[in-house]
Amino acid sequence: MNTHSFGIDLGTSNIKIYSRLDDSIMLEKNMIAIMNKKRLFAYGDSAFEMYEKAPGNISISYPLCNGVIADIQNMEILINHFMNGIMKNNVKPGDFFMAVPTDITEVEKRAFYDLIKDSEVKARRIMVVEKALANGLGMDIDVKNSQGVLIVDVGYNTTDISIISLGGIVISRMIKCGGLSFDETIKNVIRNELCLYIGGKTAENVKMQLREIETQGINAVVYGRDIVTGLPVERTIPTKSIDHALADNFNVIVDNIKIVLERTPPELSADIYRNGIYLTGGGSLVHHLAETIEVGTGLKVNRAEEPLLSVAMGLSKVINNDKYASIAYSIEGMGR
Ligand SMILES: Nc1ncnc2c1ncn2[C@@H]1O[C@H](COP(=O)(O)OP(=O)(O)OP(=O)(O)O)[C@@H](O)[C@H]1O
Ligand SMILES: [Mg+2]
Repeated sequence: MNTHSFGIDLGTSNIKIYSRLDDSIMLEKNMIAIMNKKRLFAYGDSAFEMYEKAPGNISISYPLCNGVIADIQNMEILINHFMNGIMKNNVKPGDFFMAVPTDITEVEKRAFYDLIKDSEVKARRIMVVEKALANGLGMDIDVKNSQGVLIVDVGYNTTDISIISLGGIVISRMIKCGGLSFDETIKNVIRNELCLYIGGKTAENVKMQLREIETQGINAVVYGRDIVTGLPVERTIPTKSIDHALADNFNVIVDNIKIVLERTPPELSADIYRNGIYLTGGGSLVHHLAETIEVGTGLKVNRAEEPLLSVAMGLSKVINNDKYASIAYSIEGMGR
């Protein structure tokens, strides 16, 4: 295998790139800041730092939406910069392995391939790996030989629910509920209960701290703008109200897992019963979600050790372990 091999998990909020050069995974915000509609101002984590704080002439955005590439031009700029950084400006022909969601159209899948083909990176080979299979490998499942494995990847604005068996995808369903939905719910609770507007980043911070706050038995402290006076203020909110509201989001995920289970061939259902559910994706870290899924489905939930990185870790296995090489396929010439 070429040492210049890279595995790319193009997430809606985070991009993860495995590099065989130093056997490491880069994790950065998949975000771009453009000044005056044309000049690149910042990208990755630095663009995210400015998000919701930048003046009107700097536009900050995610080039992906719902797991698919929505802004190809900016995504290309980002890939060129990230890859240049990884290759230390010494771009050599490489092999690229792209993780793609299953429940998207062929044209949307093709866009992942075209992104690399049309960018400045020199691609010797561009291969595609179904995201659920990469996730399985990243969670140490022998996806080529295992039968009936249910994987739930809670991402940024979507959750992928997939059943894999013997190296292939049996069913895959993508729903529009993820980490961002949880942030929006927290924002709404705080607006309704405290008459306070908070930003997306504040909501995300509250979400990430829920476990710690509840363990310590304290309330969340938030800063924002009072709806009535318009002044900046600090307020405390009991986490109970937040938990209560988040339960609705969690139930959407549970209901959709049940829909997938209902459509599963019975022989595979028996395997899933034995194996339990494999839960991953950054969004899955939110407090109480794993328990809610366990209670709602009656199945054991196995949580990924590295939920943000499991796809990229799986791609590293496809790249480094010949046994899994056949999971990757080429889509060159398809869809055109
Ligand atoms: N400790 C945490 N607690 C709760 N949520 C978290 C935590 N850490 C990260 N998240 C959430 O995880 C989400 C991002 O996860 P991830 O990187 O898996 O998504 P993505 O791969 O970019 O998106 P997608 O797969 O949907 O395209 C964000 O919504 C973030 O707020
Ligand atoms: Mg993801």
